[in-house]
Amino acid sequence: MIQHVRHRIRLPDVNFSSQPESDVYFVLDHADGRSERIRFHDYDSIYRVPGLYEQIFYERLKCDSPRFLAQLLNQVLVQSGDDLNRQRVLDFGAGNGMMGEELSHYGVSRLVGADISAAAEAALDRDRPGFYDAYYVADVTEPDPALKQALERWQFTCLTTIAALGYDDIPADAFREAFNLVVDGGWIAFNIKETFLGESDASGFALFVKHLIAGEFMQLHHLERYRHRISIEGNPLHYYAVIGRKLAPLREE
Ligand SMILES: C[S@@+](CC[C@H](N)C(=O)[O-])C[C@H]1O[C@@H](n2cnc3c(N)ncnc32)[C@H](O)[C@@H]1O
Repeated sequence: MIQHVRHRIRLPDVNFSSQPESDVYFVLDHADGRSERIRFHDYDSIYRVPGLYEQIFYERLKCDSPRFLAQLLNQVLVQSGDDLNRQRVLDFGAGNGMMGEELSHYGVSRLVGADISAAAEAALDRDRPGFYDAYYVADVTEPDPALKQALERWQFTCLTTIAALGYDDIPADAFREAFNLVVDGGWIAFNIKETFLGESDASGFALFVKHLIAGEFMQLHHLERYRHRISIEGNPLHYYAVIGRKLAPLREE
């Protein structure tokens, strides 16, 4: 990862805990005196400023998910007599390549990124060139036929989706497309907010995740609650790490 200048970031003195995640923001004080309010989910604005994504999420808010999931995936594969360096991995919602960098510590056979954001790819090329064998900017629910073929040709044996599943991020139908790009028997690794597995959450997305984990489409190998990062208020945000093997393609509901 290329080193960048430090940014002046301010976390607002607001309690966001009862507000929708899409409202959460921080303030970036520019060198020219301008202050800019940037929502957490406005990834394009964040990716465009070199080093800002890493500084806000990884340094300030202590996000640990790419490191945690990469080491867990490696451990689960080793326990199953498999090896990351035999995998052709699709990193879906790859952003600017944090997971690709972590996976590179273990060596993967092929690593392909995909994201809906062109700014993510530009940030990857700027900050982590060379980590991915290919990177596709696309909405996989509406791919052009050439892109669909290109993705299918990789014959992925592993899917990783880190810090990218949920209401405001990757929806169920896009995740289903990515899941179905993996060969049967391939590895699936993702993380989700703990509320998506809570009994009280009966939203379509939570039902999709529960169905996926408990259904006949995936054999669950590892489920672990861990601290994904801290919130603006400094409270731990817990997620579940999920690792399993694809048994069969997911069908549209
Ligand atoms: C919080 S970032 C995580 C990036 C990276 N996986 C990491 O761990 O740092 C979420 C990413 O999901 C991407 N994303 C959101 N909706 C998507 C979709 N429908 N298809 C593909 N990527 C999507 C965003 O553009 C963003 O780069």
